[in-house]
This record gives sequence, C-alpha cells and structure tokens, in this order.
Amino acid sequence: MVARTLITNPTRRPLVAPSILSADFARLGDEVRATLDAGADLMHLDVMDGHFVPNLTMGPALCASLRRALPEVVLDVHLMVDDPARFVAPFAAAGADHLTFHIEAVPEPAALVREIHDAGLTAGLAINPPTDVRAVLPHLDAVDLVLVMSVNPGFSGQAFIPEVLDKVRAVAPRLRDDQRLEMDGGVNARTVEACRAAGCDLIVAASAIFGTTDYRAAIDTLRGRPISVETT
Ligand code: DX5
Ligand code: ZN
Repeated sequence: MVARTLITNPTRRPLVAPSILSADFARLGDEVRATLDAGADLMHLDVMDGHFVPNLTMGPALCASLRRALPEVVLDVHLMVDDPARFVAPFAAAGADHLTFHIEAVPEPAALVREIHDAGLTAGLAINPPTDVRAVLPHLDAVDLVLVMSVNPGFSGQAFIPEVLDKVRAVAPRLRDDQRLEMDGGVNARTVEACRAAGCDLIVAASAIFGTTDYRAAIDTLRGRPISVETT
C-alpha cells in the first residue's frame, strides 16, 4: 500500500510525477530509474485508446514490465479511454498503484471509484479543459485525487491553458488533507509556479523533464520549495 501512503499521506509537497510519454521508449527502464534517482516521487503512465483521445500509447503490459523492473516505484495510471471500467482489473494485475479516469467518460463515477478501491488502488477523477468544474464538485469526497488537465489530452509538448487555474482554485479549498490536486499538461519552469500557487500539489510533466538532459534540475525546478508535511 505504498501508493495509498504516498498519495494520501505524502511527506513533502508538491509531489513530482514524470510522464513517461516523452521518455525514450527503447530505454524505458533506464529512463524511469534516472528520474527516480533524480528525485521523482512517482511515475505517470498516460494510457490512450485512440477514441477518447486521438492517440495510442501504452497498456497493462508496459505497466507490468515497469512493476517487475522497479518493484518499489509508485505507478500513477492516467486512463484516457472511453471505457475505463474495463481496465481496472488488468491494471491492478499489472501492479498499478493508482488509477485516474475522466469525468467526461464516466459522468457518474461513484461505482467505478468503489471498484478501484476494492481492487486495492487509489482513485482519481480527471477533468478536461472545456468541461465545467461543477461536473466534478459533487464527487470530490469519494476520490483520493483530482486531476485538472491543463491541455486537451492526447499528446505531450502542448501549451499550458492558463484558464484551467480557475478550476484548481475552485477545487483546492474543498479537498481534505489526504487528497491530492494534480496538474497535467504543459507544466514547465514558466508555468509551474502558477500551478503551485493555485493549489496543485502533484505536478506531472513529460517534455519539461524528458526533454532536458538534467533530470534533477528539471524536477527540482518543478517542485520549487517543498513543504515538509508531518505524517500521521
Ligand atoms: C496529455 C497527457 C500528459 C502529457 C504531458 O494528454 O495526459 O500527461 O504527457 O506532457 P507535457 O508535460 O509535455 O505537456
Ligand atoms: Zn497524463
């Protein structure tokens, strides 16, 4: 239950999660190890089905390979798929720690959140830039994490959409201490400060980490000055 502890009870904030979407897939194990050595807290896996978003990426087999290669790593799986319920059991079996799915795919998310919890994983709810924040507000209590997308999902390397910070500001004061607010898309040295100031405490970045040669510097910049948190 490492993930439950890391996500619900982190010892420092913000957490930084490299998205392996911009990693060199031919050297994936080494890439992941290098970011962990450079201070990354968890790994973000972007799962795309070619329907919910116009791209195809990775599935449970890749997750299982990472789990085998790195037994201790915390795997945060972001499901950008039409039917996330189909993938709870396969990703649980593949060693995922956390599953986030989209409110646009599952407008009534309570049952799926329960299913993810019953499988022993933490659960997150994501919201796309065009979707009104009121879609997620009734469901905050049930989830361990809210993911505010700051690009339209599908590809790494897109420009940050600053308007989504209003959503972060609406959600942040409504969350408990054991819930995380994750930002994903176009987060880099120029945009991260606004994310942190708005209340994000889990920062995802693909190109801003894997597009550099100094992973530690990139991760340190994204984290800023972390707050140490008393754990209970
Ligand atoms: C976008 C994915 C993101 C993406 C981020 O659809 O959900 O996780 O990989 O890439 P950057 O950080 O390059 O915007
Ligand atoms: Zn993502």
